Amino acid sequence: MENSNWSSYFDANQKLWDAKTPIHWASSFYDVEGFIKKPNSLNSIETKLLGDLHHQSILHLQCHFGQDTISLAKLGAKAVGIDFSSEAIDHARKLNEELGTDCTFFESNVYNIASLGLGQFDWVFTSYGSICWLPDLETWARIIFNHLKPGGKFLIVDLHPLLHLLDWTTAQIAYEYDTYGQPIREENQGTYTDGGECLKSVEYFWNHSMSSLISALLKSGLILESLDEFNYCPYDLFGDGSIATESGFAIKNLPKSFPYVYAIACTKPL
Ligand SMILES: C[S@@+](CC[C@H](N)C(=O)[O-])C[C@H]1O[C@@H](n2cnc3c(N)ncnc32)[C@H](O)[C@@H]1O
Repeated sequence: MENSNWSSYFDANQKLWDAKTPIHWASSFYDVEGFIKKPNSLNSIETKLLGDLHHQSILHLQCHFGQDTISLAKLGAKAVGIDFSSEAIDHARKLNEELGTDCTFFESNVYNIASLGLGQFDWVFTSYGSICWLPDLETWARIIFNHLKPGGKFLIVDLHPLLHLLDWTTAQIAYEYDTYGQPIREENQGTYTDGGECLKSVEYFWNHSMSSLISALLKSGLILESLDEFNYCPYDLFGDGSIATESGFAIKNLPKSFPYVYAIACTKPL
């Protein structure tokens, strides 16, 4: 399903991610050369929650150019990645070929994946920087439910809704906690990796509260297994406001227990 009211936002975002992809590919943030030598881009948060993936099928939503999808395959999974950026999918296929992994990549909006006829998986996985690009979590959660086998598991590891309240460089509150389906429009320069200084963009994103997220998952029929919060981010996303901590990165002047990332694991009933 794709609500026609959203199509102009999706078009703008798709253009943005097409433009970001070659910049990200060339960045030290994604370090493609290093990844080719040692193909594991997953962090310990998701690795621990995913456990043993041998003989497991996994659908990776919003896979960008596939580093995590390929990492999942290296852990033994039969991995399928989807993303709506054709540039991202082209680069993902190139990386998959270069590494000789057996991932399959499809270009699709998350809301349209039913038309791909992918069937059902042991796992659906999505991570860092995913649901802020999605206006409607109830539809998203239903799509996840439909793509899981009975007993299958869903894992999301993403940036915390409290972090999405803030301007990351100043640590000041800058956004609504929940935008209830209304997009936030921003004009930006650059991207979160190095090398994108010249990129000018218009982007649309949506903030979702923890209760909206959990309610959408429960309403779909999924069973909540665990919710964890982490007082660090594995990625250095905070520009001048960033400080390195023992486990990752945090923002200067925020309380030590501030949550940067959450992980939610669910199962589909048998
Ligand atoms: C921050 S990246 C996600 C990175 C991810 N954690 C990974 O595994 O590399 C966000 C991705 O979401 C994709 N995206 C954004 N909105 C989407 C949508 N509606 N449908 C499909 N993909 C979307 C973008 O193209 C981009 O590749």
